[in-house]
Amino acid sequence: MLVPRNWGPILSFIFFGTLTLFLFIEPSRVLPGTISVEILRPNHGKHTPSPYNETKLALLIENRSQPHLTPLLLHFMSVVPPEWPFLFLGSNESIAHIQKSGPIRGYISNGKLSVRLIPEDMKVDSQENLSKTMTRVDFYKMLLPAEWLFIFQTDSIICANSRVSLNDWVERGFSWVGASWGQDTKYGGNGGFNLRRVSHLLEVLTHQNRHDGEKLEDWWLTDRLGHMPNAKMANGTEEMEFSVEKIPYDTPLGYHTGWGGKLLMSQVWKERAQREQIFEYCPEIKILMPMVPNREAQGCEKDISSSFPS
Ligand SMILES: *[C@@H]1O[C@H](CO)[C@@H](O)[C@H](O)[C@H]1NC(C)=O
Ligand SMILES: *[C@@H]1O[C@H](CO)[C@@H](O)[C@H](O)[C@H]1NC(C)=O
Ligand SMILES: *[C@@H]1O[C@H](CO)[C@@H](O)[C@H](O)[C@H]1NC(C)=O
Ligand SMILES: *[C@@H]1O[C@H](CO)[C@@H](O)[C@H](O)[C@H]1NC(C)=O
Ligand SMILES: *[C@@H]1O[C@H](CO)[C@@H](O)[C@H](O)[C@H]1NC(C)=O
Repeated sequence: MLVPRNWGPILSFIFFGTLTLFLFIEPSRVLPGTISVEILRPNHGKHTPSPYNETKLALLIENRSQPHLTPLLLHFMSVVPPEWPFLFLGSNESIAHIQKSGPIRGYISNGKLSVRLIPEDMKVDSQENLSKTMTRVDFYKMLLPAEWLFIFQTDSIICANSRVSLNDWVERGFSWVGASWGQDTKYGGNGGFNLRRVSHLLEVLTHQNRHDGEKLEDWWLTDRLGHMPNAKMANGTEEMEFSVEKIPYDTPLGYHTGWGGKLLMSQVWKERAQREQIFEYCPEIKILMPMVPNREAQGCEKDISSSFPS
């Protein structure tokens, strides 16, 4: 079709004009009978950040329904800084047990606490099996993106009276800090109440495997971390302020009572005055106290320290 030359601008005007109308003008303005509805999205434009820091993770693994399990877990959730998410790995039985508690269910529903079954192939029913599990590379991969892993067992406690928090220890950047094995040790501390750095463990575990019957996981792992050039290890003196198991210190962040409560170290627990000081500074340690009377009767003499690395 031929259009006279001087119609060109007129046709463009009509074409672009109509386009503008369709694109930018609300239909209700130009078409009778249509209405426009504004969709209200109350949170539109607002970003609600997660209250939890996914590089941190507090982990409790427990398959038994111990009576103090729920109060202990609730205590830890109140004294570990609020941005730490918690993970409970348990058996059907221990998970059902903690879920009887209203406060626990509250924490589960707001995302503070996750509960999961211990994976079938990861056994925790003996020291050896636990050590196997905790030296597996897929165990730590399962916990990613956590970088700062705080592991606590049901025989440990954080003291609310502590002047420092777990975050002060994160800031110091250690690859591993646990209950001191001795004032003069260069590195290494008990893994039952312990802050460990996941990327550094993955580095160790992608190169080395623990063979059955080798040293327990905390000893085995710190032996290797301690020789890794980019690892930063807390020494035995520094660890005294983190957690007390066998080396007395008046105001630690927490206590670990030793091997699932089977051990109370004489250096810490034998003297009455020392026990009283602990109970005054950290009264909540009594949550664990059903484990104590027998040990006291036995004089708390069993000691595993002679074989620790120095
Ligand atoms: C999470 O914690 C780490 C370690 O303290 C910190 O470096 C990082 O900035 C934190 N992330 C957020 C989103 O606050
Ligand atoms: C736990 O419970 C689930 C579902 O009830 C069941 O399939 C599973 O076999 C149980 N696991 C154990 C270890 O008892
Ligand atoms: C937990 O481990 C113990 C210790 O070996 C085992 O005997 C028990 O059956 C386990 N309990 C549950 C509830 O899985
Ligand atoms: C450890 O786990 C193995 C299976 O991986 C199981 O056969 C054994 O009974 C468990 N318990 C002990 C005490 O080693
Ligand atoms: C542990 O570290 C502290 C602080 O860096 C240092 O003063 C102390 O001498 C170290 N102790 C040992 C036993 O290495």
